[in-house]
Amino acid sequence: MEVIILKNPSDVAQRGADLCVELIKKKPTAVLGLATGSTPLSLYEELVKRCERKEVSFKNVRTFNLDEYVGLEGSHPQSYRYYMDHNFFDKIDIEKANTFVPQGDAKNPVAVGFEYENQITKAGGIDLQILGIGRNGHIGFNEPSSSLSSRTRIKTLTETTIGDNKRFFRQGEFQPGLGITMGIGTIMEAKQILLLATGEQKTEAIKAAVEGPITAMCPASVLQMHRKVTAIIDEAAAEDLHSKPYYYWVLSQQQKIEKLYGR
Ligand code: GLP
Repeated sequence: MEVIILKNPSDVAQRGADLCVELIKKKPTAVLGLATGSTPLSLYEELVKRCERKEVSFKNVRTFNLDEYVGLEGSHPQSYRYYMDHNFFDKIDIEKANTFVPQGDAKNPVAVGFEYENQITKAGGIDLQILGIGRNGHIGFNEPSSSLSSRTRIKTLTETTIGDNKRFFRQGEFQPGLGITMGIGTIMEAKQILLLATGEQKTEAIKAAVEGPITAMCPASVLQMHRKVTAIIDEAAAEDLHSKPYYYWVLSQQQKIEKLYGR
């Protein structure tokens, strides 16, 4: 895993955007896997700016979101479809028909999982999957104890995740306890993965994901098995990493290697 530690969330967003733009320039028809939550918001803001400045175009890009709440329709302000439209898709030049989010209010959410897998396959697979991380190490809505080879399906959310996401819901408003999420196996098939984490509330999860044992109790730890993962994290989230000096050293060497031999 390539671990890039940067000063603050804004640097994380810039670096994340560089990686996305680089890919889209190389492959204008790229398929992106997208995440929600607070962490990627500044990445989306940065990508919107770059699109406005015509530094990148999403015209031929297709996107698949990681997850959605079961029971919320796309027009619900707390649904991930709404989040994506309002924070990203409506502000860039993407074709809405090329943006996929699991349908949370489908009559049969189980069937949605199978169909979603087919749609990803039909699109040729995901080129770059963006991930945040839950405080308990979850990715998408794959909670601790999720099968490490799971596919898109319904997951019961943990109390921790429901508690952490409560801040997005009004008091007394219905908050779903189920999500429909790409599986860990689905995520692992992406050609490249970008893991973003910022803030001290993610310190423990990042320590477990990057340096802990591979275990279903920290779903993000399975990323250690993926051949192309870049973790871009800020200093607060990196606080407890044992091998921090090595990661900085690797980065400085990487820059030299790229200068000499290209990327
Ligand atoms: C939710 C999402 C995850 C996200 C996590 C962390 O549970 N399903 O995809 O990574 O929250 O969110 P935040 O970035 O707000 O901490």
